[in-house]
Amino acid sequence: MNDLILRAARGLPTPRPPVWFMRQAGRYQASYRKLRERYTLPEMVRHPEVAAEVTLAPVRELGVDAAILFADITTPLYGMGVELEIVEGKGPVFARPIRSVEDLKALRPLEAERDVPFILEAIRMLKEQLEVPLIGFAGAPFTLAAYLVEGGPSRRFLQVKTLMYKEEALFHRLMELLTENMAHYLQAQIRAGADLVQVFDSWVGTLSPADYQRYVQPHMARLFALLQPLGVPVIHFGVQTMGLLWEMKKAGGDVLGLDHHTPLPWAREVLGTTPVQGNLDPAVLLAPKGVIRREVQRILQENAGRPGHIFNLGHGLLPETPETHVRYVVDLIKEVSG
Ligand code: CP3
Repeated sequence: MNDLILRAARGLPTPRPPVWFMRQAGRYQASYRKLRERYTLPEMVRHPEVAAEVTLAPVRELGVDAAILFADITTPLYGMGVELEIVEGKGPVFARPIRSVEDLKALRPLEAERDVPFILEAIRMLKEQLEVPLIGFAGAPFTLAAYLVEGGPSRRFLQVKTLMYKEEALFHRLMELLTENMAHYLQAQIRAGADLVQVFDSWVGTLSPADYQRYVQPHMARLFALLQPLGVPVIHFGVQTMGLLWEMKKAGGDVLGLDHHTPLPWAREVLGTTPVQGNLDPAVLLAPKGVIRREVQRILQENAGRPGHIFNLGHGLLPETPETHVRYVVDLIKEVSG
C-alpha cells in the first residue's frame, strides 16, 4: 500500500509530496464522458460498481497517490428527503429552498445504511482493489446550508446571509442538523473503509472572519470532535479562505486545504507544523507545459521540502483541462523523488 498521503497528513516525512486532485474524476476524462453518455450523475453514484470504476479510473490513468470516492456533496441530502437536480455547467438546484422552521422540519435524519447503502458498498468494493488510500468526503455545514437556503449556486450568498443575520436561531438549528448528519455520514464512510476524509467548505470564504467565528466555527469544531475518535486524518478545505485560515485551524482538521489565492509560505507561518494541501491554480493546467512546470516547481520550492505537504490544486479540476496536462503534473511531482 502506497501510504504517502497518510504519512503527509500526519506531518511525517515523505520522499516526495503525495499528489491527488480535487475532482480527479470528471468530464475532462474521455473515459468519464463515455460512461456519462449512459448514466446521469446520480445514477452513477447509485450504482456501486459504476461509482467504483469512476473512482479507480484516475488512479489508473494518472498514477495519483489517493482515490476519492465518486459521489457529490449533495448525495446525502437526497437521503435526508431533499429534492434536487444537478444542472450541467451550473450545479445543484433545489425544488424547495429552506427559509423557515417548517422547511427545516421536512428534513429527516440520515441513516447511512438505509439511505446511502450504495456509498458504503462502493467503499467496500474499492478497498478490495485499491493500492492507494481512499478519501471519503462530505460537504461542510455552511456550504450545504448555502446551497439549501439559496436554492442553488450563488455568487453573493445574500439569502443565506440574510437568514443567518435575521434568524440566527433557525440558522444555528440548520447548521446543527447538518453537522450531526454529516458527522454520521463521514463516520459511516470511515467504518466502511475510508482511510481519510475531506470536508469541503467550498463557499465559506464568502464570510468575514468575525462571522465565521460566530456562525460557523462552533459547528465545525463539533464536526471535527465527532470524527476524531475514529482516528483517520481529516482534511479541512475551503476556497477564498486566506482571511479565515487561522480560525479554520482552530476549528480543527489534521490538514488545511489551501486555495491558490493563499501564498503557501504565508500559510506555513500562520499554521505552524499543521500539514497543508494545495495549491496550484486549476487554470494553470490549461497553460503550455512550460508554464505548468514553472508553477509546479514554484509551489514545491515554496514548501521547501517541509514535511506535511499534500500536492493538489487550489480547487477542482476544470472540465476543459487536457488529460495529458494532468498526467504531466503527476509526472513532475514524481520526478522530485528521482
Ligand atoms: O473526483 C472527485 O473529486 C470526486 C467527486 C466529486 C464530485 N463532486 C463529482 C461531481 C466531489 C468531491 C464533488 C464535490 C462537490 N460537489 C463540491 C465541493 C468541491 C468544490 O468543487 O468546491 C461542490 C461545491 C459540489 C456541487 C457540484 N456538483 C457542482 C458545483 C457541480 C458541477 C456542475 C457542472 O456541471 O459543472 C456538481 C456536479 C458534479 N459533481 C460533477 C461531478 C463529476 C459533474 C457532473 C457531470 O458529469 O455532469
